[in-house]
Formats: sequence, structure tokens, C-alpha cells
Amino acid sequence: MNKFLVCTSMLGLVGSVWDQDFSYLDPTLPPEKRVDILMEQMTLTEKIGQMNQYLALEKMRRKVETNAAENTGNRNKKVAAMLADLDAGLIGSTLFVNSIEESNALQKRAEQSRLKIPLLHAMDSIHGHCAFYGTTIFPTAIGQASSFDLALVEKSQEITAKEMRATGYHWNFWPYMSVARDARWGRVGETFGEDPLVVSRMVTASVKGLQGDDYTDKDRVIACAKVLLGDGQSINGLNFAPTDLSERTLREIFLPPGKAAGDAGCRTFMVAHNEVNGIPCHADRRLLTGILREEWGFEGYTISDWMDVERLNWIHKIAHDQKEAVFLAVYAGVDVHMHGPDFIGPLTELVEEGKISEDRIDRTVRAMLLDKFRMGLFNENRYVDPAAAERVLANAEHRAVALELARNSIVLLKNNNQALPLSKQLKSVLVAGPLADSNALVGDWVYAQPPENITTVLAGIQNLVGAQMKVSYASCSEIMDITDEDIERAVQQAKEVDSVIMVVGGNDARVDEDWKTADGRRNRTGGENRARSEINLAGRQLEMLKAVWETGTPMVVVLINGRPLSIEWVADHVDGIIEAWQPGMNGGVAVAEVLFGDVNPSGKLPISFPRSAGHIQTFYNHKPSTYYREYKFGKTQPLWWFGHGLSYTTFKYSRLKVPQQVTAGSSVPVSIVVENTGTRSGDEVVFLYINDMISSVTTPVKLLKDWARIQLEPGEKKTVEFTLTQEDLALLDINLESVVEPGVFEVMIGGLKKEFVLE
Ligand code: GLC
Repeated sequence: MNKFLVCTSMLGLVGSVWDQDFSYLDPTLPPEKRVDILMEQMTLTEKIGQMNQYLALEKMRRKVETNAAENTGNRNKKVAAMLADLDAGLIGSTLFVNSIEESNALQKRAEQSRLKIPLLHAMDSIHGHCAFYGTTIFPTAIGQASSFDLALVEKSQEITAKEMRATGYHWNFWPYMSVARDARWGRVGETFGEDPLVVSRMVTASVKGLQGDDYTDKDRVIACAKVLLGDGQSINGLNFAPTDLSERTLREIFLPPGKAAGDAGCRTFMVAHNEVNGIPCHADRRLLTGILREEWGFEGYTISDWMDVERLNWIHKIAHDQKEAVFLAVYAGVDVHMHGPDFIGPLTELVEEGKISEDRIDRTVRAMLLDKFRMGLFNENRYVDPAAAERVLANAEHRAVALELARNSIVLLKNNNQALPLSKQLKSVLVAGPLADSNALVGDWVYAQPPENITTVLAGIQNLVGAQMKVSYASCSEIMDITDEDIERAVQQAKEVDSVIMVVGGNDARVDEDWKTADGRRNRTGGENRARSEINLAGRQLEMLKAVWETGTPMVVVLINGRPLSIEWVADHVDGIIEAWQPGMNGGVAVAEVLFGDVNPSGKLPISFPRSAGHIQTFYNHKPSTYYREYKFGKTQPLWWFGHGLSYTTFKYSRLKVPQQVTAGSSVPVSIVVENTGTRSGDEVVFLYINDMISSVTTPVKLLKDWARIQLEPGEKKTVEFTLTQEDLALLDINLESVVEPGVFEVMIGGLKKEFVLE
């Protein structure tokens, strides 16, 4: 047995001697046993230290320098407090470690503490490990969802996990499981859209990709499904603002993705900034213990969002002080406190006073330590090798997946008069607009990257067709800074070319064009904490589009953005429109391929496009009475519904087969024939919707129940088969119980409809 006598002389202490049992460092012992041995020796404060997460050192120093709001007051104290806690072994995890060197250095300091407990390093590696320098950047979630390609999404997350582990990270604050129901909200681009089934499946694929079968394997990370609950439909579309939702809407729309994450074995959950129905989520015991643990059987741990425990006092005003805030949060079910020095003290006092039981603390600490042992962090995996990381980060295989996902995520919104694809016989094209040569196409949560890793739309076009046609570029200021000269330049250059490609939209990137962190800059029109009261093209972009369109030179529009945009004029006037979302590091390659027809677009909208902010809420799974009446002026229906997306080929749907009668309790086989009736090979996403025609409570006019992504050569036909389960037919009755009601159901696929009777 590895028992060491630690002498006072070795520790430089005088007057006390104790035995320390380091046998938990022995990797041959079972992890559970190692946890027992270690916990036996931990003081209460050391245990609570495991629940304490800090922003990593370099990042914190920078925050202190930039005077970030939440650091006001005792800023330097924070850095000092972090280091003191680290040396005392009172930090369980960090977020946003800056480099491999920093990861190793922090682990080293932790190893020098009394019990040598390693740190879990956490980060938001949301579409690739993209807050870290030199990594693979995939399309953001809204684009991933547009691909409806679960296998590729899973693959992208598997790569993310690999790159995270190679750089010393263990815990990813991903996937986002919020359903986006308000396009004004800045975080729409981070979500998988408006449909709970799509979000649930994308979340499941992401958890699988990150965690694999066993998240403690050396290439995998702990996933964190975020956030509980309901931030996708906040009042006024503002981040942090209250959410007021019926129990029915919570259970039908917002909770299913969380349940799916739990069922997929997601090890951790993050709590939402907002309140739901008067209870801030961080103090909601019914949510964090009742639903999460008791209903869903969750056994992992939860984490607060950034300083949100503090906000129970500062903002929500349901706690008199920090100690009461900590009590409310831990009692409700918050396990890890994200960032800040005022946690260990209050929680230690609360346990000593008997207000929080030590068993409650032990539950969290046991789960976290078990992960650290199983991940090998006490032993062989504590440190990482920078040379090995170089072979993994953004390697050719990873970049190829980023490109494939970008290709599959692009949505052809409109294509009249065969505006697209553009002919490669054109003599000249102009690429213009504020996003033509912009890094904004990487999306939110990306920090500095080697510039050569990113292909902008302009570069993608130059690379693809630059040798055979003249590609000119009208330089342009950033979105909110467009000048008369910018517009005039584009107009003059448009007059001299065969065709114009206008690249407009939004900018969610946290960095400026020089890859400097510039969170607060005015040209950031979307992303976290960037809600808008309008969802139009920000700044003078529309004016610029109109001016160029007036020249009469044929024009197509490429949108780079994270939220649906109200672009009625564009939809009415421009024949060719592409929604590229934020397609990641190879986005410009994929956009160019779609523009010139090397790739046939196949993405479908995972979210509807309202005509204006005044049309919000707009989602396809609406109730039958939603559009019974119309707005007095202008059109009521959206520009494009969820599921919309064109192709350069045509698909014909026929022979929808559904049984006429179905006996209670049995499943329903459905099939359809899809044929490529055009001249090009293409991928099609086949959607299966149902409608419960008459029910005891109102149900949406259509609900997505399944989909299949298929590939068809010209003239090729495929029969696509689906099975509707009883669960698919269920509704929540007047008592919110899940029941299947007999009666008529309608099945809808590709414009065809058929009914069946459930006995
Ligand atoms: C933020 C975000 C959350 C993120 C966390 C850590 O406040 O709301 O999504 O995981 O900070 O970066």
C-alpha cells in the first residue's frame, strides 16, 4: 500500500503531523475505490473546492485589463484569489485556458497542492474547438441543423473532442439544446433551430460525437447540454430576460431536447441565465432536481452559467446576499459554480450551519472525482504534449469534414430564371458587400485563428474560378460603417461586369478582422448578448443592394448570418438567394462551389424566416388558429417556412403509402417514392409530418416526426420508409398526461397527404 508519512519538516509546518494516504494515485485500483480513499481525506472546504470553477489565469488577467463589467470592484483580488485557491487545491475546474502551456502549468500547480487533484479544463468549443488557436472550425449550429445530416454532425463533434483533448481540455459546454423561437435573439445562430425534434436529434448526435460510448476515453470529452431552460423564447428576444411559458409549452417544446440529452448519457447540464415563470433557473429546484434528476434519472452534475448564482442577488433580487444566493442555487441542484471567488466561503458556512447537508456536497464531488480518475487525469493524462497536438489540430482529415458539413448546410432560398448556378463561361464577376472578404463567416465563439486557415467568400471564388474569369472585388467597410463611397464603388464596379455576387447579412464574430478580440464592437450585429429589435439587414446593406440592383447587372445574394432575416425586398427582387449561415473555416470554398454549381445545394431551413420583427413569433408547428386572421397591412405568412430549401435538380414525390386503419398500440409503416427528375445528381431531405386531425386539446397543424437525407442520381428513384411509433402519435392531454387518442391522423410528405384512422 502506498502510504506515505508526510512529515512536518517536508511541508515546512511546525507542530502537526499526519498520515496521508496517497494510494488513490495508484491507477491499478478501481476508480470508485480511489474516490473513497481520496474523499476520506478531504476537508469540507477541499470538497467544496471541487465545485469551484475559475476563469483560467491568462484570460482572467486580460479581463481585468479590459475592465469587464462583472469584474468591477475587487478585480485584482480575483486573480490573487484564484491563485491562492489553486495552490490550496480549492479549484475543481477552469474555463478558457489559453494554451497548452497554460493547461500544463495550471495542472502542475494543482499537482503541487496537498491532495494533488487535477483540474478539469472546460471551454465552449461549440462548432469545433474554435476558441483555441489553430483548430478546425465547422459551421455554426444553425448551419449544422440545415444539413439535417446527423452522421456528419456527430463526426464534427468527435473531431472537436479529439482537438480538445489534444490541447488539454476535458469538458465542452456544448451542445446547445435551446429551441429558437424569436429571431431577434442574438444566439439563434448557436441553436439547432425551431423544431424540438431536430434540436433533440442534433443534441443527441453532438453528445454522441463528444462523449462516444465512454466519455472518459482519451479522445473524448464530457459534454454539457445547455441550457435549462427556455432562453430561446425570452420576453422581447433579449438574452437574460424572463421567459414566461405554460407548462404545456415547456413540456412540448423546450424540455424534450433536455430529455434527449439525458437519454444520450450527457454527463453534465448548464443552467440558464433567465427565469421561467417567476423562478430564476438557478434557484429552480423543481427543474434542477425534480425534472432533471427525479424525472429523467440524471446522475451527473450541473454547472451554473457565468456569475448567475451572484445574479440571484444582483439582478433577479430573490436573494438578499451572496450567501443566500449560494444556498438557493445549491439547494435547487446547482453543482459547480462557474467563475468567482465568493462561493467556497458561503457554502462552507452553509454546511457548517446545517443548512446544506454534507451528503449533498459529497454527491457532486464523488461524480467529479470519478470522472477525473476515469479520464486518467491523476496519472498518464494529466499533461499534454504540444508536439502531438500539432498533428491533430485542423489536420487535413478534420478540414475535409468541415468542408463537407459546410457544403451540406447551405440553403438555396430562391432560384428564379435559373439565376444559379452561375456559368463558368462568364467573363467577369464582381464580389461585393461588407461580408465578401470577411472573417465573420466563422460565426460566434471563435477567437484568433491563423488567417490562412480561413477561406472567405471572395477567396473561395477567386480560387475556384479566378483562372478562367476576371474576379473583381469592391472593398467595403464593416456592416455598420458602410459609407456613400462604399456604395458608389460597388455600383461603379457592378456596371463593368457580367454578374454581381453580393455578400451581406450579419456578423456574430467576437473578433475583429485582424483577429483581435473585440467583443464590444459596434459591427457585431448578432451572437451572445446581441439581440436586435429589427431583424432586417443591419446598417445600410439594403441600400447598397438596391443601388447595385439598379445598375441592371444580374445579381445574386449570399447571406452570411446567424438569425433569420426579414429580407422582403430581396426576396421580391433578387432571383438567386443563398443562405450560407456561418459556414466555418472552409465556408468560402463551399459557397463558391454552390454559386458555380460544383456542389448542388441540399440544406433546408431549420427555422422559418418572418417578414419582419413584428411577425414574431413565427414557427411552422403553430396551432390551427394562429393564422385564422391576417395582419391588416402587408403579408402575414413568413418569407420561407422551416424545411424550405431548393436544389439545382428537381425531385418528384409519388406513391405515398399509409395503412388506412391502424389498431391501437401498433406502429404505422409509411413509405414514399422520391425520384430525381432533373439532370443533376442531388441530395434531398425527405420530411415526414403528421397532424392529429381532431384532438381533445389543440395540436399544431403539422409536426415533424422523422426525416431521411438521401442521394439520387438523375432519373434515379428511391423508396423511403418510415415507421411512426405510438409515441409519435401521442399528445399531452388536458392534465398534461401523454396519451394517444384514437381518430384520424394525416401524414404529409413532400406536398402529398394521406390519412389513416387509429382505432
Ligand atoms: C456564457 C454563456 C454560456 C457559456 C458560458 C461560458 O455566459 O451564456 O453559453 O457556456 O458563458 O463561456
